[in-house]
Amino acid sequence: MEQNSLLTINGISSFYGPICAIRDISMEICHNEIVGLIGANGAGKSSLMKSILGIRPVKSGRIIFNERNITHTSTPEIVASGIAYVPEGGGVFPFMTIKENLQLGAVHYRGNVNERIEMIYERFPLLKERENQQAGTLSGGQRQLVAIARALMSSPELLMLDEPSLGLAPKVVEELFRLIMDLKNDGYTILLSEQNARKTLQHADRAYVFRTGSIILHGTGKELMDNPVVQEAYLGG
Ligand SMILES: Nc1ncnc2c1ncn2[C@@H]1O[C@H](COP(=O)(O)OP(=O)(O)O)[C@@H](O)[C@H]1O
Ligand SMILES: [Mg+2]
Repeated sequence: MEQNSLLTINGISSFYGPICAIRDISMEICHNEIVGLIGANGAGKSSLMKSILGIRPVKSGRIIFNERNITHTSTPEIVASGIAYVPEGGGVFPFMTIKENLQLGAVHYRGNVNERIEMIYERFPLLKERENQQAGTLSGGQRQLVAIARALMSSPELLMLDEPSLGLAPKVVEELFRLIMDLKNDGYTILLSEQNARKTLQHADRAYVFRTGSIILHGTGKELMDNPVVQEAYLGG
């Protein structure tokens, strides 16, 4: 195992009844990397994230986080151990204020919650300006910011973002990817699932390409951008 490894996955599979969602997946995420998961709808990206988080049961293989086997650990324990997840669509609570949404993210935070919120507001000044506003009144892009900020409240070592750019206007997608780079510069490690292959490969250190539950290719963002199979299938030729 690589010394710098934060998360190591060895041969995991997960099923919905008889349907295999992911098959024999192995991958590694090192400290402070942005690792992309690209692939079409139904390829298995969300199932992998849910397996890491313990929401989906893993049938075989193992998941090591910070040198600890978390394969069959409960989701609350996994979150407490330092993995945060932003589900597809963000999942913010529309009738709660921004501040209340952030407070919910701190359930597993051991430090001072108000100090943590102030730290998060430094990275997301817009959220401070609107802290007492109901999250449901925000635009899609702003709600995605709340979702990411809420995930960061627990001071996670690994942040998993499931298709954060889905449904956002191109300009907002640009801002989102700039934020993801800023978070890397802040020291976070990020696992990013996306159907926007081009943007992901431009920003990720490395990426894995999913097709029908399996990893068919992996490499650095640049290597995959230059790969004819990726260009043909995911970058529009
Ligand atoms: N709730 C579910 N019930 C049954 N099958 C599901 C469910 N969610 C996902 N699947 C199946 O698992 C496979 C992987 O889906 P998913 O992980 O959601 O892919 P992605 O996130 O890449 O779009 C697909 O074949 C999908 O049909
Ligand atoms: Mg998905």
